[in-house]
Amino acid sequence: MSAILGIDIGGSGIKGAPVDTTTGKLLEDRHRIPTPEGAHPEAVKDVVAELARHFGVDGPIGVTFPGIVQHGRTLSAANVDKAWIGLDADALFTQATGQAVHLINDADAAGLAEARFGAGAGVNGTVLVLTFGTGIGSALIHNGVLVPNTELGHLWLRDKEAEGWASDRARERDDLNWKQWSKRVSTYLQHLELLFSPDLFIIGGGVSKKADKWQEHIKLERSTLVPAKLLNEAGIIGAAMMAQEGGAEPEKKGESAKKPTASRTAPKPDGKGAKKK
Ligand code: BGC
Repeated sequence: MSAILGIDIGGSGIKGAPVDTTTGKLLEDRHRIPTPEGAHPEAVKDVVAELARHFGVDGPIGVTFPGIVQHGRTLSAANVDKAWIGLDADALFTQATGQAVHLINDADAAGLAEARFGAGAGVNGTVLVLTFGTGIGSALIHNGVLVPNTELGHLWLRDKEAEGWASDRARERDDLNWKQWSKRVSTYLQHLELLFSPDLFIIGGGVSKKADKWQEHIKLERSTLVPAKLLNEAGIIGAAMMAQEGGAEPEKKGESAKKPTASRTAPKPDGKGAKKK
């Protein structure tokens, strides 16, 4: 068993729990601390350090972020404080916790977890995970290997950015019923179907709990669609999976703050230490 702390930074709460990365199960109850007003990096850093202290971790920590994460830097901030843009958040959290912290995009984390342990378990080929909430997050996974930072919520469609038109926030803002919202989502998914030909779409985020309201209204040409299974644990699990493998990407040049880790490759479906189903 490999127990790794996963932390999910969300708009209203920052949640963490130790995860058995060989089974995808949480080993203790989640601990949640409200996201500090404005989600400024310094304030979020203190919460991440508090969660690490709460669980008394000694080992790598995986942390999600709701924006682009490249080589440990946060490069976009669609729904959080702009101070994150260009920040070496990975180093900031590593220093604050005294442990090697590995950052990953929130949808990428949820996608990895769903593809391995959730609605995509046992599915080969291309899995496209989309999370509908304040924004739209995306994770593209082929045979268990993630292509990070696809950011398909920012795709332009009919002169509109998909996220501003078809997210759950857009549904609430425009006072749409589930059928009206599903029509927008179908237009968006059909376009993604044309671009990626996924074998499976997994729909995550808050709406995954209410699939009975929208699933029957989604029309696709040739792909299968299922709601996510891991609900609000997916981000925590995916973050821990990534940290267990030593992070998503090759070492940054001159990186020195981190403790050495075994390998820095993306997790594989049948990776070392992972139990086969
Ligand atoms: C961000 C993505 C994120 C998604 C869900 C989007 O606005 O650009 O990086 O995954 O929201 O939080």
